[in-house]
Amino acid sequence: MSVVSVANVEKAKGVLVIGARDLLTPLAADRAKELNVRIERSTAQAKTSAPSTPRTAPIPPAVNTPTPFASNRPIRQQGAVQPGALSGALYRRGAPVPSQMRVDNVQSNAGLDSRPKTAVIGAGHVGAMTALRLAEPSLFSRVMLVDIVPGLAAGLALDMWHSSGLRNFTTRIEGSTELSALQGADYIVMTAGRPRQPGMTRTDLTGVNAEIIGGVADGIRRHAPNAVVVVVTNPLEEMTHLMAKRTGFPPNRVIGMAGVLDSTRFCSLVALEGIARPQDVKAIALGSHGAEMVIPLSLATIDGQPLEQLLPADRLSAIVERARDSGAEVVKLLQKGSAYFSPAESAAVMVAAMAKNSDTMITACVQSSGAYSVLDTRIGLPVRLGRDGVKEIIELPLRPDEQAALAEAARSIAKRISELG
Ligand code: NAI
Repeated sequence: MSVVSVANVEKAKGVLVIGARDLLTPLAADRAKELNVRIERSTAQAKTSAPSTPRTAPIPPAVNTPTPFASNRPIRQQGAVQPGALSGALYRRGAPVPSQMRVDNVQSNAGLDSRPKTAVIGAGHVGAMTALRLAEPSLFSRVMLVDIVPGLAAGLALDMWHSSGLRNFTTRIEGSTELSALQGADYIVMTAGRPRQPGMTRTDLTGVNAEIIGGVADGIRRHAPNAVVVVVTNPLEEMTHLMAKRTGFPPNRVIGMAGVLDSTRFCSLVALEGIARPQDVKAIALGSHGAEMVIPLSLATIDGQPLEQLLPADRLSAIVERARDSGAEVVKLLQKGSAYFSPAESAAVMVAAMAKNSDTMITACVQSSGAYSVLDTRIGLPVRLGRDGVKEIIELPLRPDEQAALAEAARSIAKRISELG
């Protein structure tokens, strides 16, 4: 009997033939699903092979060493297990850690891993949660968390990595204070910056966060010149503009995160009316991440039925208003700092959509470049994301009042951006 590990699965090309009595670890089974590797169990043990795998030694005789769990199960002698092979006692505390699963090797093996790499800058509320959300689906080989506070990113990364066995993920999370750690990142989420405090508008953050964006953008340009950057730092449209300007990256590779969040906030608030689950409400938020947010009700549906036929107009405008002010509502309740669970989830959704080359429509802050006949500026519009960022802006039919509100939003954003100098 051999133990078939994640390493065997990752080396297989499409199909992995294993022996009838070979033991497939749960992690390897999960990895096979992720990589679309078919596991075929041969009926004849003699003919089978787990390609490119060292075989385990015959199971050694049990010894009666007591374990901390006082188990009656026999434990295996450490010395009898060949390097690289798993012990028979897969889940028992104290079992030898096979070399390919040791943390130091997971790190060095990341170079051989063909999955994309991500980085998150700022290990505060939004950044830390984004890093975890990015790691959990095991889509990426690595998430690098970077923060200027010594030890913060490394400590959080290690803490998150400790949960990998429980959450069953294989993405290595690491932390650093250095922007040079961005080397090789395919996707970078920028969350560094001050959050709002009660009574502050997002625009109040412009000065301090512009400075942070500038320094970080220089680092991204130097260390990850091919990355796609998702900007989260507020004020969103201004910071997305500054990031694009300072990195010199093309418009498809600098995208602001707001539309996914504002859309999901609206949908979740509609669900509070008791007429549908949040995921059944289809609606999008365009325009700015703030006062000029535009939620085109003509496009909002539940199971294909127009939302305007399901709720009275005054209820709907109250929900739009609450969605628009949701950030401030959370800030006021928290008294310190701003929302981070749903913002982190939203940023992770965007990065995953790119990594999967997904064709799903989402809304994001992008360069309008003539779309919707609004001023050419950074504004929330529906887009399709692909591996290299924005694939295309999707032009949806808007009602004249919605089109006018979007044009007004573009004018206000363009004015704010022009004031940045
Ligand atoms: P936070 O204060 O919890 O974390 C910010 C982190 O950035 C801190 O750990 C700080 O040390 C770090 N940092 C500061 N300068 C840095 C630099 N030069 N390099 C690396 N790290 C640096 O703030 P939180 O709650 O995580 O919010 C972060 C930003 O995201 C704020 O600007 C906030 O307004 C914005 N935000 C945007 C949302 C959106 O929808 N676009 C939603 C929620 C927050």
